[in-house]
Amino acid sequence: MTDIATLQNQILSAIETADTPDALESVRIDALGKQGSVSALLKTLGQMSPEERQVQGPVINGLREAVTNGIAAKKATLETAILNQRLATERLDMTLPAPEAPRGTVHPVSQVMDELAEIFADMGFAVAEGPEIEDDWHNFSALNIPETHPARAMHDTFYFPDKDAEGRSMLLRTHTSPVQIRTMTSQEPPIRIIAPGRVYRSDSDATHTPMFHQIEGLVIDKGIHLGHLKWTLETFLRAYFERDDVVLRLRPSYFPFTEPSVEVDVGYSVVKGKRVIGGSEGWMEVLGSGMVHRRVIEACGLDPDVWQGFAFGTGVDRLAMLKYGMDDLRAFFDGDNRWLQHYGFNALDVPTLSGGVGA
Ligand code: DAH
Repeated sequence: MTDIATLQNQILSAIETADTPDALESVRIDALGKQGSVSALLKTLGQMSPEERQVQGPVINGLREAVTNGIAAKKATLETAILNQRLATERLDMTLPAPEAPRGTVHPVSQVMDELAEIFADMGFAVAEGPEIEDDWHNFSALNIPETHPARAMHDTFYFPDKDAEGRSMLLRTHTSPVQIRTMTSQEPPIRIIAPGRVYRSDSDATHTPMFHQIEGLVIDKGIHLGHLKWTLETFLRAYFERDDVVLRLRPSYFPFTEPSVEVDVGYSVVKGKRVIGGSEGWMEVLGSGMVHRRVIEACGLDPDVWQGFAFGTGVDRLAMLKYGMDDLRAFFDGDNRWLQHYGFNALDVPTLSGGVGA
């Protein structure tokens, strides 16, 4: 056997026994690397006579080719083996039940706001927004609550100590009603909007928290009257409580920004000692509303002899409590996971009118 044939046998058997990619790589370096045995033989070709080279050239090149091919084939085999091993160890048995994972819930306030948006969208209302840091004019003056008006004191307002750059008194909005003003001053009537959002008052007990949620409604159009208001609220409350026997009672009331103003009560029945919405055994106040005061329409630059409308406002948290049976408002904002697991909603329970806006 020639030396070259011996060398080839040696290298090929080293390739054969290499059982890891690293071992194979060191065989490759020993043979084909700069200092490798095959490389050394290739270098000798330069010093040979042309006759000698004609004989040795094909032999040495044949050696290089055999080694290169051997390494490539072994490399592929090793990689396949490694992949198969990984696939075997990382296999997941899909027939096993999924492990218990922590699951978040949608807060009832978010859920109710989504329900309200869905119900009112069906009646052609868009959702409007306004800033939580408001100025005096939008929160009070434009809503016909002048500085000396007792209603300002009733609101327990959080004021900012400094005025803004334009000298306006800034405050945390005490209600969502300023969104009425922002909408009327930025959009052409006809207007149909609801405005859900956070409001702030310096007040705290079982039924009051310094931050809570309201929803405002506003319709501005021609020839709007109390009948439209009553139908809208009735349709809304029936959809919201998912009962056709919801009965409303409109009581005369007073709000500076509506004239006439009405407070809306909803009838309830007592079932097994609990109040259930529907029927008329007793009455619960749920909404403030009325026909938009002509001074408010004027303050927004519209002609009250052309445009009329109605507005309403209520607490979202209170609506949630009435529908889903919580009794302490403070728990809404404690962030207690047990409460959220109990009262929260599945993230996939998106309220739709066709699928139901309820639980
Ligand atoms: N803004 C009132 C409040 O916070 C609620 C309200 C009453 C809003 C009557 C209205 C309305 O739009 O017409 O107490």
